[in-house]
Amino acid sequence: MSVLLLFLFLTLHGLPVVFPAVDQFTFDGFAGANLSLDGTAVVTPDGLLMLTNGTTLLKGHAFYPTRVRFRDGASSPRSFSTAFVFGILSEYADISSPGLAFVISGSNDFSTALQSQYMGLANAANNGNVSNHFLAVELDTVVNAEFGDISNNHVGIDVDGLTSVVAGNAGYYEDGTGAFRNMSLLNRTAAQVWVDFDARTSLVSVTMAPLEVPKPKKPLLSTTVNLSSVIQDESAYVGFSSSTGVVSSRHYVLGWSFKMDGEARALNTQNLPALPFTIPKSPSKTLKILLPIASAALVLAVAITVVVIDRRRRRYAELKEDWETEFGPHRFSYKDLFHATDGFCDERLLGIGGFGRVYKGVLPASGAEVAVKKVSHESRQGMREFISEVVSIGKIRHRNLVRLLGYCRRRRELLLVYDHMPNGSLDKFLYDHSMPVLSWSQRLGIIKDVASSILYLHEDWEQVVLHRDIKASNVLLDADMNGRLGDFGLARLYDHGTDPQSTHVVGTMGYLAPELGHTGKASKASDIFAFGVFVMEVACGQRPITQDEHGDHLLLVDRVVEHWREGTIADAVDPRLRGDFAVEEASFVLKLCLLCSHPLPDVRPGIRQIMQFLDGNAPLPELSEAHLSVNMLALMQNQAVNYSYSLPLTVAGNLSDIPGPR
Ligand SMILES: *[C@@H]1O[C@H](CO)[C@@H](O)[C@H](O)[C@H]1NC(C)=O
Ligand SMILES: *[C@@H]1O[C@H](CO)[C@@H](O)[C@H](O)[C@H]1NC(C)=O
Ligand SMILES: *[C@@H]1O[C@H](CO)[C@@H](O)[C@H](O)[C@H]1NC(C)=O
Ligand SMILES: *[C@@H]1O[C@H](CO)[C@@H](O)[C@H](O)[C@H]1NC(C)=O
Ligand SMILES: *[C@@H]1O[C@H](CO)[C@@H](O)[C@H](O)[C@H]1NC(C)=O
Ligand SMILES: *[C@@H]1O[C@H](CO)[C@@H](O)[C@H](O)[C@H]1NC(C)=O
Repeated sequence: MSVLLLFLFLTLHGLPVVFPAVDQFTFDGFAGANLSLDGTAVVTPDGLLMLTNGTTLLKGHAFYPTRVRFRDGASSPRSFSTAFVFGILSEYADISSPGLAFVISGSNDFSTALQSQYMGLANAANNGNVSNHFLAVELDTVVNAEFGDISNNHVGIDVDGLTSVVAGNAGYYEDGTGAFRNMSLLNRTAAQVWVDFDARTSLVSVTMAPLEVPKPKKPLLSTTVNLSSVIQDESAYVGFSSSTGVVSSRHYVLGWSFKMDGEARALNTQNLPALPFTIPKSPSKTLKILLPIASAALVLAVAITVVVIDRRRRRYAELKEDWETEFGPHRFSYKDLFHATDGFCDERLLGIGGFGRVYKGVLPASGAEVAVKKVSHESRQGMREFISEVVSIGKIRHRNLVRLLGYCRRRRELLLVYDHMPNGSLDKFLYDHSMPVLSWSQRLGIIKDVASSILYLHEDWEQVVLHRDIKASNVLLDADMNGRLGDFGLARLYDHGTDPQSTHVVGTMGYLAPELGHTGKASKASDIFAFGVFVMEVACGQRPITQDEHGDHLLLVDRVVEHWREGTIADAVDPRLRGDFAVEEASFVLKLCLLCSHPLPDVRPGIRQIMQFLDGNAPLPELSEAHLSVNMLALMQNQAVNYSYSLPLTVAGNLSDIPGPR
């Protein structure tokens, strides 16, 4: 500390200083602290380090401003220890955006890292690459199947990527009894984390506990890490990284202490700045049993009965309000769904998506196979509108739409029951190379199926239904490999739950039309944009946004436009087809996507017109250079990276001129 004070004194007085080798520091709150911040990270006037500020799909970093010396010359890294207090405030009580991480890294430049599930640490191309040189301790509140996440409330030790070396549910082992106590990362309470590295054993240990509990003796996680390969230079940066996904949340660090070769100074947990506010939780619903003590035996008997009944009651407890009676026939009982899915056991898990987990079930009464989607949702605001939409959507019948059979509500949970589609989702066939390759004619068939489902939703049903999340993973394949669009309207759930002033964009990066960035309003045209991206995905067998080895965003649309300019548009088609497709047809399909995904909404055709093109009843307008004169890439790039970017109408230049992610 004294070294730091001297250093601050010298810098404040403008005296030239030689960097002292910092090897310890403590921040009991960050007021006046000199940290190197980027992205959304700021130190608030109260002295909180706020890594993310509630805006969705952004990231922020905070590092100690100078490198910390971890090794002398070629010797192996020294022991260190750190303690920090963090807090997470999410808009919802039980879902949040990915989380935050303590990081030691060779570089403090994470400009190419992505937000959302990448937590500002890596991107799709470099995730897990040994050249990343970072060690992170993640506090993760979202299940990302791609990283093998164990729960939406876990702590993990990560090396060079987001797939944890070890992970465990948040909690601690009580000293003395050794009992494990669960903790919640999302309960709006600050908690403390300790990270220790023992150079002798190469063991990294992570411990956490509520603020009032002293550091537990038994760590939550520990694993050996070859820190020599992570920290290649003599010194490295230490700090924090965090990001938001589609849910608005704020990630805070309240205090931080660090020391080489010894135990970090304990934080003064009494005097840390407080987390800004806490929303009162709904009262606990535990039964209050008041019994006169007549006979101990009677009390015991009653108590046992109450416990049994209460356990049953809670196991199947639902949330039902008066207004729901009109939706009666569409309401499933939780007990039925519980039995249908064998208690939502892991063996029945079909997949984990952005909105929740999907289980396969067999309804006890009819024997019908269903897919049950569990969406965690706390907010009651707008629930009535949403349920009435669910029910009216449930009335939609079309052979290319996955039928929504009904719903059930529990505290914090909404369950949606759909027809089960035996062949699963289309994206698996496109990207999982262990699955059979879909032929060109199958692909074209699926594209037409999806187009006709959109035609029905946009034009032919009694109300206009915007899907808002059209993408390959929302297209399911029935037993005959017909494409069926699923999950329609689900995105609105989160809209209803937020206050009307802050329309937040819902959907998936890469499929969001550029105008959504500034109007925030979904429209038929924004669905068409996503449809265009979807068609491109199916034809090219490639995700809409990928990254190259330098971490630059590569947009599929850019590749297709490039090929179109060079007159080799058919070369953009999925190489797995090995040229087995009609070139004319393929170039027609790709031109159609360019038209649908045009940056300007007015240029995009309507779905009825698209059907006519696909059925060969109308010629596709010739694409001209003028059509693409608005630099599509620039628009999409801005949108992919920063939703609030105001849209320039004429953009010239190429990818290298476009600001990268920040
Ligand atoms: C969060 O930070 C970003 C980038 O610094 C900024 O554009 C945005 O307006 C901030 N949001 C809020 C709610 O302060
Ligand atoms: C913060 O630390 C950096 C790196 O040591 C230094 O360049 C900068 O002048 C410091 N700023 C203040 C306000 O002390
Ligand atoms: C890891 O990154 C390096 C440098 O960026 C690159 O050359 C290499 O191909 C990457 N390795 C893998 C397996 O992606
Ligand atoms: C702790 O949390 C885990 C995972 O959420 C759960 O399986 C377990 O039952 C919980 N234990 C207690 C004692 O609440
Ligand atoms: C949050 O969880 C911690 C640890 O489990 C507990 O000590 C604290 O009382 C909880 N806070 C609230 C508001 O539930
Ligand atoms: C640790 O990493 C260093 C540098 O990559 C390597 O030389 C060394 O062999 C590794 N040690 C072990 C035990 O794997």
